[in-house]
Order: sequence, then structure tokens, then C-alpha cells
Amino acid sequence: KMGSRYVWPSSTCYLDRGLQLPESVVIRGGLVVDINGERKADVRVEAGKVAEVGTKLRGDREIDASGCVVSPGLVDMHVHLREPGMEEAETIETGSRAAALGGFTAVIAMPNTEPPQDDPIIISAVKARAQTALCDVYPAGAITKQREGLELAPMGEMHSLGVRIFTDDGACVASAGVMRSALQYARSLPGAIVAQHAEDETLATGHMHEGEWSSRLGIPGRPAEAEEIIVARDCILAAQTGTPVHFLHLSTAGSVAIVRAAKAQGVPVTAEAAPHHFTFTDESCATFDPLFKVNPPLRTKDDVAAVKAGLADGTIDVIASDHAPHPTETKERTFEEASPGMLGLETALALGISELVDAGVMTLTELLALMSWSPARLSGLADHGATIEKGVTANLCVIDPNLEWVLDPANLASRAQNTPMGGRKLKGKNRHTILRGEVVVLDGQATR
Ligand code: DOR
Repeated sequence: KMGSRYVWPSSTCYLDRGLQLPESVVIRGGLVVDINGERKADVRVEAGKVAEVGTKLRGDREIDASGCVVSPGLVDMHVHLREPGMEEAETIETGSRAAALGGFTAVIAMPNTEPPQDDPIIISAVKARAQTALCDVYPAGAITKQREGLELAPMGEMHSLGVRIFTDDGACVASAGVMRSALQYARSLPGAIVAQHAEDETLATGHMHEGEWSSRLGIPGRPAEAEEIIVARDCILAAQTGTPVHFLHLSTAGSVAIVRAAKAQGVPVTAEAAPHHFTFTDESCATFDPLFKVNPPLRTKDDVAAVKAGLADGTIDVIASDHAPHPTETKERTFEEASPGMLGLETALALGISELVDAGVMTLTELLALMSWSPARLSGLADHGATIEKGVTANLCVIDPNLEWVLDPANLASRAQNTPMGGRKLKGKNRHTILRGEVVVLDGQATR
């Protein structure tokens, strides 16, 4: 545990008497980084807002940020919280705790719950459950009823409840006609983005990337073209309808090239990449370890290089974890029978630091752009990813970019443990997280 100069508020006696004084917290001695650049400064947080940024600030309580970066809280556009229906894998409570520990102050919860988030009642229920979460949880709405790809879900009604991201994630909207209808409809919903899980199901029938390793291992494959065909098609539909399409977890060099070309022509498309897709290759599957099974699958070295290049040149707009908890029973099976997906919330930052910053692909500030203010803007979250200045909502994280640590899956806050990173040495860790002014993570521990 890192040492901290943590001082309890002098106003505790007032709290005892029920007179709640506004407590101020000073985040001391960090490098403050946001969209406007970086400067050495203290940050004072009071009544849920940033009250002051400057030097030698005073407050009721102090949080040490020496050697650390103070950033707008991270934002994860792609997590599976599994509630309702699959609480044996994760709940909003456990998933939001994992998020807060990972430095996230906001997450978008994917709709492949049971029942799916495809109507206003489920959306309201998830929002209600998220009231006490350790980060802001914004449910995404399904594009189609039951995520079956056939009939549009009541997107307008979900939009009225604040939903901005619509996706059938876990499943691709296979029909071009249905996808076009969704885009035409979404055009009337301000800020709405239709996010595609791009995998043509008639091609993506196997369990790992189709290539040399799938042949050697005798595991049926999911070819790169399964993804690229849908990415290309949906770029055409985005151009034709003018409605923004966001591509979830881009994984192939071809997809990156298609998105790059579409953007160059002004087509309203955006894309994300998951840390596992810039960290691992299909060779990881050589041990038949189902912890490496994920959809879309881990690809080749060249694909990894293309994803990194896409992140570096702005073709890929955001990093999103695709945090996909699964209970041990459904992961400890043969590679072909195991569920696809791996945990990501507590390791995303470290993988970004190791694979992108330390590898010289980008600076830490550029990584934070991809993990905080870019996804916040794309998702329309005004309270997140903001410039750290007086008056903004205090959604912040304090990161130690140099801390080396070893991941023990048993210590994760997630209810599930399906990460292939157990025992792996990682570099860079979130140290404190502030959610609307509340210190929800202090020195790597959740405070509630
Ligand atoms: O690997 C994956 N797992 N890919 C998906 O698209 C869905 C996710 C899940 O829900 O487990």
C-alpha cells in the first residue's frame, strides 16, 4: 500500500452533531493533465466540484498525488455489467467498484443483459440500480428488440431517458436493411450514436482468428473479413444516412484502413479498440487457454501494429475495455465451448501505459485523451472528461504511471476472475478516484 498523507476532516465534530459542513479535499502535488495540457498544481474539491486549481492550496483533508498524474476520470464506453440476469458473473455494484479502482468515473453498460436493455423499463431499472454505484453508469440501449436484429427497439423512448449509445453488442446487426432503418431513425435523436459489433455471423463461425494458428491448433476460425465486410458496409450506410456509426472493438488492419479512408472522406464514423487487441496476438491461444477467447478474436502481429497505428493517428478515437466477466464454470471449458470475453476494467490503464506509452506509440496525455475526454465527448457526457478548472464536476482520477504491480485475479473487485493477466507484471495503476467530489478510491482501495 502506498503511503498517503491522509488527514481526517477537522469538521468531524460538526458531522456528529448532524451539521454537515462542506468538506474540502486538496489533491496535493500532482501533475494535472487534461485536454488543455499539463501543469504542476494542487486541486481543491468542494461540494462535488473543482473549487480551485493552484499552488499551496488548503483544505479539510489532503490526498497525496506526488509523482502522480491528476486526470479527468477515465470513461469506458464498453463494459458488460451483467445486471440484470447474470449476477453470478458481475453486478452493477461489483462492476462499478472494479471501474472505480481502474480509474473510471463513468462507464457505458452494454445491453446484452437478461432481459436485454431493449426497452425503457429495463433502462430505468438499470439506472435506478446504478444510483449507488461507485462510478456513473449509463446504460446503452439495444438497436433491435431482444438484440435479435429483426425489429427496431423503442430507441426514441430510451433516448428520452438519456440513452445515447445504441448497440446490439455481442451480436452484429446483420441485416443492412435493419441497420439502415436504425440509422435513419437515430438521425432524429440528438446525440445518438449507433454502435456496431462488426462480425458477419455467416463468416465468424469459429472460436479464434482464422489464420496460421487456428490451422495449427485445429480450432475453427473467425476470419478478418468477417469484421471488415461489416465495417465497410456500415461506413457506406453512415455516409448515406449521415448518422454517426461507432465501431466497437476494432481488431483488424483492414478495418483500421477502411475507417481511416471513410474518415478522410468525411463519413461520420468513429471507432474504439480494446486493450487486449493491442496487447495479445492469436499465438496466445496456442495453449488452448480459454481466457484468451474473445470476440472479435485476438489477431496477428500485423493487426496489433495496425490497431496501435490507428490509435496513434486518430483513426481509432477511444480505448474501451470490453470488460466481459464470465463465471468460472463457463470459462473452464474447452476452448470451443468456453464463453468469449475477458475482464478489462482493472487492467486497461496498465496495458495502455505498457503497450502504448512505454512502447513509444504515444504520450501519457494522448493515452488519457483516448481513455477520458475523447470517450466522454463521444458519449455526450458533459460531466466527465472536462478541463480541470474551477466549477466543473469533480470526476477525477490520480494515476501513478510508474507503479509496478502483479495482478492477482483473486484480488479483483469483479465478481468474475476471467483475465489472462494473472501473475503478469503490469506498470501504471490508478491510485485515487473522485466521483462527484466523493473519494471513492483512496490509495488503491475502495472506500465503500
Ligand atoms: O468477447 C466478447 N464477450 N465479445 C462480445 O462481443 C460480447 C462479450 C460478452 O458479453 O461476454
